[in-house]
Amino acid sequence: MPRLISSLFVAQFFLISLLTESYRMSRQLAAITGVHGYLPDYVLTNQELEQMVDTNDEWIVTRTGIKERRILKGEGLATSDMGFEAVKGLLEKKNLQPSDIDLLICATVTPDMVFPSTANLICHKLGAAPTGSFDISAACSGFLYALTTGAKFIESGVYRRVVVVGADKMSSIIDYQDRATCIIFGDGAAAVLLEPTENGTGIKDEILRSDGSGAPYLHMKAGGSLRPASIETVTNREHYAFQDGRTVFKFAVKKMADVSAEIMERNNLTGEDVAWLVPHQANKRIIDATARRMGLTEDKVMLNIERYGNTTAATIPLCLWDWEKQLKKGDNIVLAAFGGGFTWGAVYLQWQYDSQ
Ligand code: UT7
Repeated sequence: MPRLISSLFVAQFFLISLLTESYRMSRQLAAITGVHGYLPDYVLTNQELEQMVDTNDEWIVTRTGIKERRILKGEGLATSDMGFEAVKGLLEKKNLQPSDIDLLICATVTPDMVFPSTANLICHKLGAAPTGSFDISAACSGFLYALTTGAKFIESGVYRRVVVVGADKMSSIIDYQDRATCIIFGDGAAAVLLEPTENGTGIKDEILRSDGSGAPYLHMKAGGSLRPASIETVTNREHYAFQDGRTVFKFAVKKMADVSAEIMERNNLTGEDVAWLVPHQANKRIIDATARRMGLTEDKVMLNIERYGNTTAATIPLCLWDWEKQLKKGDNIVLAAFGGGFTWGAVYLQWQYDSQ
């Protein structure tokens, strides 16, 4: 009798493994099938920042890798305007109408207003109502969270076309008297289209992590339900991003490298197998450490921090946009990010198309 039970147990185990593997092989994958970005015209250089705060080009370049960033200037312009431009360009490129979108997700920490969501406003500007839309707030990891969420709607068969936008007007929450933060951030937006794929390419795996004990080191003190806006919060300059850079740096270096190595390991990838690392652009030193841990040479790392600085949720899709023409169908790509919260994560995907 005990032998029969143990044989049944073993058979059951094999059956489950077989079913899991066949599900994994046959599962509907979501792939990025297009990407487009938008950057405001105004270029804020290190030299201009030298006139505003006690800093210098040499310090900024050696500590961060940043030379310039873009700033959205103009009355009445907000995150949704940049998101709108990115999605409009994406739809034109893909020859699609706004009504072809089933769902639009926007990752941002600088929404136009607390509500309605920026995704909702982008849809309105596109003329895409009544498309479903919502925002995701996960700071610099926001795009990875939004991409993963969008992919699940495709994988489950609920939707066929999901647009994921990463957009931030960081200049709206930056104190240009604080040299610790104003040299880092910039404005920008980029959007990707997710569609079902039958050819085995697409988003294969993701790891999303968070730890709220990191909140004191990177946050905006006022403007939420904890400390609503008041004369005091404005006088104390509490409506700006605060960062304890040194502490965030220590966590970022470790967590972004760890999570990138973890996603490679569990997908049996070596440095040779990975065609590109698409890292969140917070600091060149953090990116270099992650690439080293993954066993990647510099030429496999997308880096545009020099020109755009840290655009928070937009950094990763902006890299994909900048590098789109070099990407080939089947390329193994790892996206990785670390940001406020703390939040961090990695996504492993196989690129779906060759760009013309
Ligand atoms: O994207 C979201 C996640 N964010 C990140 O991943 C950012 C992580 N942190 C960083 O990238 C870096 O910590 C910073 C770039 C923010 C700062 O670089 P650091 O090498 O960590 O500098 P530090 O904060 O340790 O400051 C070193 C020195 C200090 O002077 P003392 O105390 O040594 O005399 C600062 O006061 O540099 C001074 N400093 C500056 N000097 C010139 C700080 N900011 C500046 C500045 N220009 N802008």
